[in-house]
Amino acid sequence: MNEHSPVTQSNAVKATPTLPDAQVVTQVTHWTDRLFSFRVSRPASLRFRSGEFVMIGLMGDPHPETGKVKPLLRAYSIASPSWDEELEFYSIKVQDGPLTSRLQHIKAGDEIILRPKPVGTLVHDALLPGKRLWFFATGTGFAPFASLLREPQTYEDYDEVVITHTCREAGELAYGAKLIEDLKNDELLNELIGEGFWKKIKYYPTTTREESPKMGRITDLMKSGEAFTDLGVEPLNAATDRAMICGNLAFNIELKEMFEGYGLEEGANSKPAHYVVEKAFLD
Ligand code: A2P
Repeated sequence: MNEHSPVTQSNAVKATPTLPDAQVVTQVTHWTDRLFSFRVSRPASLRFRSGEFVMIGLMGDPHPETGKVKPLLRAYSIASPSWDEELEFYSIKVQDGPLTSRLQHIKAGDEIILRPKPVGTLVHDALLPGKRLWFFATGTGFAPFASLLREPQTYEDYDEVVITHTCREAGELAYGAKLIEDLKNDELLNELIGEGFWKKIKYYPTTTREESPKMGRITDLMKSGEAFTDLGVEPLNAATDRAMICGNLAFNIELKEMFEGYGLEEGANSKPAHYVVEKAFLD
């Protein structure tokens, strides 16, 4: 399978919920042998801010002695925007991962558990006003930005939106690349946000272990200055730039150190500042 042939399966049959906090899967798309995305029904009462995450999962295996089953839940960023009728998620498949070894087999019509308590720091409220917004992702860390890239406030609040995505292989960029390409022809969003809103986006995908038009870790490409030259923008500074980070732990730590060097301060819901960080789901 490659980036041009995602396998999508849809047409959910609405089942009677049998799990606690059950939601019904409406669509599943397999992007590579390591990545898939899926959509589920949205609880009528669920309100969230684009960029937040919820706990989702399946029932675990029965306890060997008591036979009791408990939910097996993990934090997943909601990849769909806050206005969407359904919820979308983007996930890795880990063959021996407790949850994703099973979650990767869900089909339209199946149920998952979704605790309707959204939280998270990758939200507009945690940033001070600025001119340019940066999204830095590795792997499935793209998920919260899939939400924020479809959120009108992103374009109302900023003149420019830069999204960098570093993956091992080129096929792992497909979900993000298609999502960004689809924004151009999204009639609803062009009407809602303003015709041509997507021209504010600068997309900078890179790979580290397979040939692609731009190779290297985004951290190294920024340190050398190459990323800024390619993008035609100045290095980040506290007066104009705001940033959100979502990737693996080492990536988050390295970028945080770089940002502190640029003079940016970490923000939170209770104390907005220049950048915010969240760990991507890895299980
Ligand atoms: P690399 O292949 O050089 O390790 P993973 O799948 O392990 O979570 O990694 C996703 C992507 O993030 C890979 O392209 C990986 O590059 C990159 N990466 C891992 N650690 C860092 C880091 N500290 N800074 C920048 N990129 C990183």
